[in-house]
Amino acid sequence: MGKIKVGTIGYGYWGPNLVRNFVENPGSEMVIVADIKKERLSTIKASYPQVMITKDYKDLFNQNLDAVVIATPPQSHYILAKECLEHGLHVLVEKPITLKSQHAEKLIELSKKNNLVLMVGHTFEYNAAVHTLKNLIDSGELGQIYYVDAARLNLGLFQRDLNVLWDLAPHDISILLYILGRNPISVSAHGMPFVNEGIQDVVYMNMVFPDNILAHIHVSWLDPCKVRRVTVVGSKKMVVYNDIESLEKIRVYDKGVDKPPYTDTFGDFQLSYRYGDVIIPNIRFSEPLQRECQHFLDCITNHSTPQSDGQVGLNVVKIIEAAQRSLNQNGKHQEIIKW
Ligand SMILES: NC(=O)c1ccc[n+]([C@@H]2O[C@H](COP(=O)([O-])OP(=O)(O)OC[C@H]3O[C@@H](n4cnc5c(N)ncnc54)[C@H](O)[C@@H]3O)[C@@H](O)[C@H]2O)c1
Repeated sequence: MGKIKVGTIGYGYWGPNLVRNFVENPGSEMVIVADIKKERLSTIKASYPQVMITKDYKDLFNQNLDAVVIATPPQSHYILAKECLEHGLHVLVEKPITLKSQHAEKLIELSKKNNLVLMVGHTFEYNAAVHTLKNLIDSGELGQIYYVDAARLNLGLFQRDLNVLWDLAPHDISILLYILGRNPISVSAHGMPFVNEGIQDVVYMNMVFPDNILAHIHVSWLDPCKVRRVTVVGSKKMVVYNDIESLEKIRVYDKGVDKPPYTDTFGDFQLSYRYGDVIIPNIRFSEPLQRECQHFLDCITNHSTPQSDGQVGLNVVKIIEAAQRSLNQNGKHQEIIKW
């Protein structure tokens, strides 16, 4: 197979990163980029004169492409991905895959029917630090997993039509599903719209996973500090993954609490605290988006299923829908009934 011919729809904030990766990848050719904004199209021409530009994404369907990358706002993901799949094109669509689970189901069905790769841009599933975190959990080094706490905070970037849950939580939910290897049993969420009416800019979300693993996600566009941190606490060890750190992203703390054997009297009840070493594993870090784009191309070549396939995208949407229902009902617990 020669180079995989790729087109992109959407060249705003995130699209340029995807376009750069497919331009630089020796296995692909970025043929054409569509954006409805004229000024965005001039930017593409300035950076990549060899790439065709258009205001109308339908022009992509006349270019003999193999695949399309969709980096438009989430409201348009469903309709664009559906049209691309109907035109026999493999699709890499940004997160969240859609804003409705029925729409994600429809895309999965279409991709299966037409034998096409459908992948969602859950970038963190291609992040070497997240892989290290998963290995630490899977190897049993942390012991029984008690809880996970994730925080993704910053000042901005405020979205006009979607709340912070739909904007930022897909990242943390996809990380949790990936590292824990299971789906939650229940979800609840509290949040407030402080800046724009009706659009929550701060959300606190709780999930309970099988085996009583508790998870908490805090997402905010209204915080003085940039935070991107996941803490995993196990019975043997604890880990902090700090994505802001350039080199030492993962710290494994040999800390914990051991309960003494059964005691009769309160005086005998002494917990023993362990304060051991802190280990910083050496991670061979490369740009997660580069790995993600390579994975998409590999799945097309090998006819294989992506790590973040349509089903994973759908699971994330189901969880956000449940969290949104909870937000609308003042934090009421929502059972996720069907997986
Ligand atoms: N994976 C990540 O880490 C990551 C990071 C940021 C954003 N994202 C995702 O990327 C997507 C885009 O986000 P963004 O921040 O770049 O948004 P953006 O608003 O900055 O850019 C979107 C671009 O799409 C264009 N567009 C909209 N509708 C179009 C259409 N029908 N045809 C052609 N062009 C169209 C707009 O003109 C705009 O230039 C979102 O789904 C977002 O969640 C992912």
